[in-house]
Amino acid sequence: MQNSDKFLNHLESILATRASKSQLRKLTTLDSSPAHPLADFSSNDYLSLASDPVLHATFLAELASAKSTTLISPTRTTGSGGSRLLDGNSRYAEALEHDLARVHGAPAALLFGSGYDANVAVYTCIPQPGDVVVYDEYIHASVHDGMRASRAAKLYPFAHNCVKDVHVKRGKNKTRQLESLEQVLKKVDELHGPSTRVFVAIESVYSMDGDVAPLADIVSIIFERHNRSSYTMGPTYLIVDEAHATGVLGAPKGPALGLVNAESLESACLVRVHTFGKAVGAAGAVVLCPRVLREYLVNYARPFIYSTAPPLAALAAVRASYALLGASLQCAGITNLSATAVLAATRHDTLWARTTHLHTRLRALFPEPGPSPPSVPRIEYAAVGSDIPASSIFAVRCAGPADTRARALAAYCQARGFIVRAIVYPTVPRGMERVRVCVHEGNSVEEIEGLLACMCAWQELQSAREISAKL
Ligand SMILES: Cc1ncc(COP(=O)(O)O)c(C=O)c1O
Repeated sequence: MQNSDKFLNHLESILATRASKSQLRKLTTLDSSPAHPLADFSSNDYLSLASDPVLHATFLAELASAKSTTLISPTRTTGSGGSRLLDGNSRYAEALEHDLARVHGAPAALLFGSGYDANVAVYTCIPQPGDVVVYDEYIHASVHDGMRASRAAKLYPFAHNCVKDVHVKRGKNKTRQLESLEQVLKKVDELHGPSTRVFVAIESVYSMDGDVAPLADIVSIIFERHNRSSYTMGPTYLIVDEAHATGVLGAPKGPALGLVNAESLESACLVRVHTFGKAVGAAGAVVLCPRVLREYLVNYARPFIYSTAPPLAALAAVRASYALLGASLQCAGITNLSATAVLAATRHDTLWARTTHLHTRLRALFPEPGPSPPSVPRIEYAAVGSDIPASSIFAVRCAGPADTRARALAAYCQARGFIVRAIVYPTVPRGMERVRVCVHEGNSVEEIEGLLACMCAWQELQSAREISAKL
């Protein structure tokens, strides 16, 4: 239906153009019921904690306990009442920051309402005029938004996860070739001078491909820039977004506090951003940083200053979840610490077992993406060459005569009770469209096998259609 307003008509035509390119984003709701059960292979709730009755009970106990102590001031539960700088601050928030800094081995911590806000705050605020930001080409949109609004003199991408060698781009746009981190840093030295302050922006686990950053190599290259042998920082500073590693990766037998913690590289990072909306099963984020940087953010970070502070309910959920992950912080409802640690380890063992199972089966069923599209539709598994999976995020590509098939495969699986999502341009580059499959602690082996059978059935159906169309 045509709007009578010219401006609304204009917006409508923009949306129509987007729809004609199959790029229209739409909100959907999916309801699981006993008659039509849905298996989650899509959300970032990797440990299935957001629906875990143990977390739910621990959260309620923590909330009740917090309300009855003097740790909150004043006693608002569902809303904080204002920005942290006005009425939204509480002893509870400060105690949580203190504990998060301690368990993550950071000098200071600052809470944010979301990971998006945290990244926008970090990247708009921290680079000063004349500074340079060097970022992995696959860095998250929130980092891009922060960088764009920053005062940095220049922003340079480097080829995804490529530390030293020249990276040859795959996909449609084969002529574009990005340089490695080492090459980009050399270029910065030539163009801006060797004492130029550089911020290197990476993620620990990349959300679309599920691959892990070569953190130790990145740290070595950063130190090489100034012939350093020790982990003193500057003028090249590392900023790590741990969104998809928080609660998933960690030191052996320790709580899963992220990749930096797993590799004991805390002192090599200027800033770490941990988000709580994924494996932690809650919401919000924390920026881990030096004390002076925390104070700087409190003074200059607009997403912090001009936004209502997270409410007690959100903070209690984070405390309860971290306690269940085996991090050593106090939490009402958890009395048996060793039993909690065993439970956390069991959760991770199950997640790893499911992840390995899916990886092994995908390798057996589907080949590696080839250089040119096959003549009949074919499912390809990007990480087929790896002996072990990098994370519980899997990229399943649909190669064939047409490249709009990721949506069709996702829709086919969804209609059969398996929630997977197609990730298409502009979220991923053209030619890199895929179905993103996330495996969770709560997925059963039967569910995984069901999803794989569904994918195989779709592939056979497509091939049969393609062949009969050619006859
Ligand atoms: C790598 C990365 N960083 C940051 C964010 C933003 O976090 P939040 O969802 O808490 O805003 C996301 C969310 O998708 C992400 O994938």
